[in-house]
Amino acid sequence: MKIILKKGALTKASKEYVRIQVTEESKGTKQLVREKGIETLEIGFGKYSEMNRRKFLILCRSLVQVAKTNKCKKIALSFDDLIASLNLKEKPEELAQILAENFEMASFEFNHFKTKPKDGWHAVEEVLLFSDSSINKALLKGQEIGKAVNECRILANTPGGDITPTTLANAAKDAVKGLPVKVTILGRKEMEKLGMGAILGVAKGSTEAPTFTILEYKGGKGAPIVLAGKGVTFDSGGLNLKPSSSIYEMHMDMSGAAAVIHAVALAARLKLKTPVIGLIPSVENMPGNNAYRPGDILKSLSGKTIEVLDTDAEGRLILADALTYAKRFKPSVVLDVATLTGAALTALGLHASALLSRDDTLAESISRDAEISGDYVWRLPLWDEYEDRVKGTFADLKNVPGGSTSRYGGAIDGGMFLWQFAKELDCPWAHLDTAPRMTSCKGDELAEGAVGTPVRLLARFIEQWKP
Ligand code: BES
Ligand code: MN
Ligand code: ZN
Repeated sequence: MKIILKKGALTKASKEYVRIQVTEESKGTKQLVREKGIETLEIGFGKYSEMNRRKFLILCRSLVQVAKTNKCKKIALSFDDLIASLNLKEKPEELAQILAENFEMASFEFNHFKTKPKDGWHAVEEVLLFSDSSINKALLKGQEIGKAVNECRILANTPGGDITPTTLANAAKDAVKGLPVKVTILGRKEMEKLGMGAILGVAKGSTEAPTFTILEYKGGKGAPIVLAGKGVTFDSGGLNLKPSSSIYEMHMDMSGAAAVIHAVALAARLKLKTPVIGLIPSVENMPGNNAYRPGDILKSLSGKTIEVLDTDAEGRLILADALTYAKRFKPSVVLDVATLTGAALTALGLHASALLSRDDTLAESISRDAEISGDYVWRLPLWDEYEDRVKGTFADLKNVPGGSTSRYGGAIDGGMFLWQFAKELDCPWAHLDTAPRMTSCKGDELAEGAVGTPVRLLARFIEQWKP
């Protein structure tokens, strides 16, 4: 999407642009007015006085959505008029960044596997934005962020037959091409040598070899931020095969990996002044003759042994080895991102990812960044009281509690399991269970499929984090 900045009033837009006018009519009302060859699309979004940051971002998306459904390829909008009438407390620069991010996100559609219609895709190709050059930098930054989110969505949406641990590793390479990011890909042999028994265990059922990808952005001096992303390229559940209705979208079980890859690429593109490392453990979780079994005991990279009670709790296993591997970078902070549990959806519904951390300062900092970025999170507890549930019977740990209470507080159990490895790090750690935000929902004003969470949050975090 091209955003062209122009000084003056909306009336200066030539006739090829459809003018966008936001009104106080109730949300959802829209009408196309034609007068002397000039087209104006009036879009209602409710009372200006009830506007806030959260609603503004949705407003931006709906402007693009309405333009798209009306087949407007070129639109014009007065940014100055819009923010004057909305009277929000945020600065114009901040609102410009939000606008650009969300314009990009709303214009995205995953049509990469579709035949192009004769009259082309219905996309908004050009936005003529009336304001002055003071918002130029913020617009460019917002567009860069929005594009990174969309790249993440492409990767996450790509079918499981096309994205395997190997192609995911290659996608990481492609994502950072031309950027100062070093990529190293470990294969099965190297992982065996290191002793990454947890990743190797999950990988056993698949004919696809596991990979472990390391992205290194040396964006400045000091200890790096380490981001680890769950890269399960398809989660069938393994021998604890998922029920038919739960298996469909499991090619997106590498959304955490996709977000980390594109967050590292984005940090480099925005030239952020912090070193960032991305770690991508990747496997396909399949049943089969050679698959790992319930009851199997895996020896993780940390040396801790894990009894597998459920082969469908595979994400925490591969992340365990990634968290241990993180230690060698002497990080200032470690975050992991994973579509880890259906229980996070049960707890929070569709509008927030779960945040789990033992470090209040870090949790509060992430929560603030979440609110600002639009990748919303809500914290769940990781108290000592929950720790017994992941202690093993025949091994040091078990991957799920088992027994009649096994399904209670599943998102917390996932976090508590990861904490058993994160506690060996000498730095704060947080876990983001992004399962609730894996796909878009009603009200998001986004295309169906992946939403690209939490790329915006990570970008903001990398920018803000002070150890
Ligand atoms: N990838 C799933 C979690 C998931 C579910 C993500 C729905 C997105 C949408 C994860 O590997 C999983 O299978 N979790 C199990 C854990 C259980 C076995 C303790 C779950 O949520 O049922
Ligand atoms: Mn699973
Ligand atoms: Zn999974």
